[in-house]
This record gives sequence, structure tokens and C-alpha cells, in this order.
Amino acid sequence: MTKPLSSDLQSYYDFERIVEIDFIRATEAAALNSYSWLGRGEKEKADAAACDAIRGMFDLINVCGEVVIGEGIKDNAPGIFKGEHLGQWRPNAPKFDIALDPIDGTTSIAKGLPNAISVIAAASPEPGVSVALQDIPAFYMMKLAYGPAVKIHAQKTGIDCLKLNAPIEESFTVIARALRKRVQDLTVCVMDRPRHERLIHNIRELGCSLRMISDGDVSAAIAPSLPDSGIDVYIGIGGAPEAVLAAAAVKCLGGDIQTQVWPRDLKERDELIASDYEDQLKKVFTADDLARGKNIIFCATGISESALLPGVKINGNTATTHSILMRAKQKTIRYIRTVHNLSEKTIRLRSSKQEHHL
Ligand code: FBP
Repeated sequence: MTKPLSSDLQSYYDFERIVEIDFIRATEAAALNSYSWLGRGEKEKADAAACDAIRGMFDLINVCGEVVIGEGIKDNAPGIFKGEHLGQWRPNAPKFDIALDPIDGTTSIAKGLPNAISVIAAASPEPGVSVALQDIPAFYMMKLAYGPAVKIHAQKTGIDCLKLNAPIEESFTVIARALRKRVQDLTVCVMDRPRHERLIHNIRELGCSLRMISDGDVSAAIAPSLPDSGIDVYIGIGGAPEAVLAAAAVKCLGGDIQTQVWPRDLKERDELIASDYEDQLKKVFTADDLARGKNIIFCATGISESALLPGVKINGNTATTHSILMRAKQKTIRYIRTVHNLSEKTIRLRSSKQEHHL
């Protein structure tokens, strides 16, 4: 038998490869532990269940994880917040910056509506990148997200052809050209909010199809980068932390998202200026600005169905979860369908420090 050359052996220098599956276990656990709150009108209990499961799973993972982006400042929810340590933090364990939303779409869970996912983005330090996942100290950002074909077209035509702040008839014309469609054949996703009244009116005037969502704009902003989502563009104002999470995914998928801080009122604007953020107010951040470098992992598990993932399905004695796992480095996209045997399956919760049956 030929002895393998040392160069033939699997190299584990790339630690992300090993740990990424544990990150998926964390979003799966969050989805499974919060699913029972679907439609029960208890968004904080659902959120608490997801957080408990994520913390519990990380208690089993030998990493030094620091939350750099946690629940948004818009939430008064029982969440995992910036600065919290996740993982075992044993000496010499690999470091990760973590951005997460245990549930994006807590209202959707409470009302039993679509678009709830559990999501984590993680970045390990790499030379020359001091901040991989950009924390934006604001409540909302304006967002325009589109897929790889549009990004490539814009790069070829000149990046200025597609601007966040341009009138939508201009940007949608560019997007339609890139997708070889007519503008009226575009499908546009927008959050159903009073602040979008004018935007919605303008989209309707252009004759585009409109998909309005009540919550969950992480999956909505990722959708245009997925070949079969049926969504060509996501546009509108949504949470700032959600923009960074979406940016990490969009980057792995080769699409893009343009974003800009959108202060809710003069008070927030003044606070941002007082904390030296004035220069950044005008800045348009792309996916590369919000999620820098290549050492980025993104994973999510569906709780209720969305354009990104099916939700949790219970069938007799099994629960099936659907997750997506991607890395910016190699752009491999894994869809993971996991069948959990409910007689055997346990989830570790931080609150009890024990394994629990579902
Ligand atoms: P939560 O699940 O954290 O409540 O966020 C849901 C969400 O719909 C986000 O996806 C979105 O970015 C944000 O809320 C929009 O904020 P608002 O509900 O204030 O319009």
C-alpha cells in the first residue's frame, strides 16, 4: 500500500472548516427551542428560548467568541448583546467575532407568520482586517440589495450606475438590464411600514411586482442573491444589525447590499453627530464594508418559512430543520436538512446547564 505523502493529508489549519458545523448546531438549537412559541403571541419568550439554546450550544464549543453585534438597540428583548462572551474561552482556543440574531422576526414568531430565522455570522481575525463585522451605532439603515448578476453588471458598467440614493426608476432600470428583464417584470421586496409609503407608491408606478413582508429583512435582503428566490431586489429601511448580518451572507453569495445610516429623528441624528459619527452619516456601506475580509462564516436556520429557508417541520417523532452555511473564503453554499429524532434529541440550555428533550 502506498503511504500518503504529507501533502495528501487533510490539513486542519483552516479551523473554520471544523467549527462551522457547530455554529449551525447553535442556530438549529435556537430554531428548535423557539419553534414551540410559533403563533402564541409571546415574542419575548420565543427570543429567550432561542438565546438560551444558542448560549447553551456555545458552552460546548471550544472557541473564544465575542459578540460584536447582538440584539439591535431597537429591541428591549431578552437578548444576547454586544460584548458578551460565547464559547468555552479555554486558553489558545481560536477567536471569533460574532454577529447574531437568535431570532430575526420575533413578531413573526409571535404571530405565526413567515420570515423568522435564527442567524449567526462569525469572523476570525485575519491580517490587515481590524474590524471584520462593522457595528453600526444606529437603529436603522436604508438598504438596497441585489444579486451577483447585477453586481457584475454594475462593475462592468461603472459602479456609479447603481446608487442607493438614486431615484428608483434609475436603479431599477440598471437592475432590470442586468437581469435581462423589463423594469415592470422585476419583483421587489419591501417591508410593509408607513415609512415606505412613498417608496411603495413609486414601485407600483413602475409596474413592478411587489412582495411586502411584515418582518424579517435579513432573509429578504439575502433573497435577491439566491437563484430561485423569485425576488430581484430588496429595498427599504430596516434594522442596522440586520444589515450587517445580511451583508455577510450576500458577500458569500457574490451579490451586494448598499446601505446608509437612516436616523429616525433629529434626536438620533444629533446623538450620532455627538458621538463623532457625522462623517459616517453620508457614507454608503457595501457588503464589503460591513463584512470585511474573507474569514467570514454565515449560517442560518429557518424557524418559519422564508425566501431563504423552509421553517421547522414536525412530523410524528421527528423535527426537520433547514439551514444554510456559507463562507466568504470559498463561497461554498451548503443547504443542510437535518432530521432530529425527538425521542433521542436533547438541547443544552445555558439556563439549566443541562441537556433537555424538546
Ligand atoms: P426583530 O426580530 O429583532 O424584532 O427584528 C425584526 C425586523 O423585522 C428586522 O428584520 C428588521 O430589520 C426590523 O425588524 C425592522 O424594524 P421595525 O420593525 O422597527 O420596522
